[in-house]
Amino acid sequence: MPPTPPPIPKAELHLHIEGTLEPELAFALAERNGVELPYATQDELRAAYSFTDLQDFLDLYYALMAVLRTEGDFADLTNAYLARARAQGVRHAEIFFDPQAHTARGVAIGTVIDGLTRALDAAEQTYGITTRLIMCFLRDESAESALEIFESARPYLDRLTAVGLDSAEVGNPPSKFREVYARAREAGLKCVAHAGEEGPPAYVWEALDILGVDRVDHGVRSLEDEALVARLVADQVPLTVCPLSNVRLRVIDRLEDHPLRAMLDAGLLVTVNSDDPAYFGGYAGDNFDAVRDALRLDGATLRALARNSFRASFLDEGARAAYLKEVDAYEG
Ligand code: ADE
Ligand code: ZN
Repeated sequence: MPPTPPPIPKAELHLHIEGTLEPELAFALAERNGVELPYATQDELRAAYSFTDLQDFLDLYYALMAVLRTEGDFADLTNAYLARARAQGVRHAEIFFDPQAHTARGVAIGTVIDGLTRALDAAEQTYGITTRLIMCFLRDESAESALEIFESARPYLDRLTAVGLDSAEVGNPPSKFREVYARAREAGLKCVAHAGEEGPPAYVWEALDILGVDRVDHGVRSLEDEALVARLVADQVPLTVCPLSNVRLRVIDRLEDHPLRAMLDAGLLVTVNSDDPAYFGGYAGDNFDAVRDALRLDGATLRALARNSFRASFLDEGARAAYLKEVDAYEG
């Protein structure tokens, strides 16, 4: 058997740190913090990972966060992700977190951000991964709650690169968050938002025209609107697509039916990401491997996806160029 080639160098741009909580760590943290989980064993928990839609997943995702209490917990969670990401060729990661899901449980935003940044500050040295942090607003909470969490994050804004928008999409359009995005932009932050995952193309238009996003997270439903595709292509707005997530949350029936190739063929700036890898069956490299096999993507297409991941990142131009050179030099 020939040796397995190393994974292609890539950036991960759509990754919820809370979605990297593996059953093993969940049980260890539950024990450490004296938190009772409604599952007797790791296998019993894993058996619950069969979702009917986004909300069904979110119910478990938020429930399991109960084990995250201290700065050390957030640092351990982040280090566990970085180790796995490194093994799958991730060289740069732009990481989402959901502060409202923690402050609602009495965990201070400073505890969350200090824990995350403790791990991220050492990430380049320890794992050879550069990182950025993106603070998300929960769209099923009120616009006032988003403004409150943004104001409470002001002392930490120098640690953030962007704001994002996630959680239950349908019924919670981007326009609801116009004001907090204006404040974020004014503070010098980049803007991204989940749109067009379960929600309609109209939500992608709103993310672009009302929130002024620099990237769209998911965006797969954009294909239903020809004019929207033309706009996304013309402006080369990146879409952070998450193939395994789309199948697990039943946005797409089967991976073989995923529109990733059609999106590339349309000229969209598409990237491949893992979303919530502990829940959806794989990390960034697993997503690359899965679409390669299901959609029969050749080496040139995989290389284009890896290049797109760095092109779509918030890296400065020097670092971006260095990573693109790594992709070009890759012999997989
Ligand atoms: N939060 C974590 N994962 C999410 C997803 N796929 N969509 C919306 N919100 C999320
Ligand atoms: Zn997501």
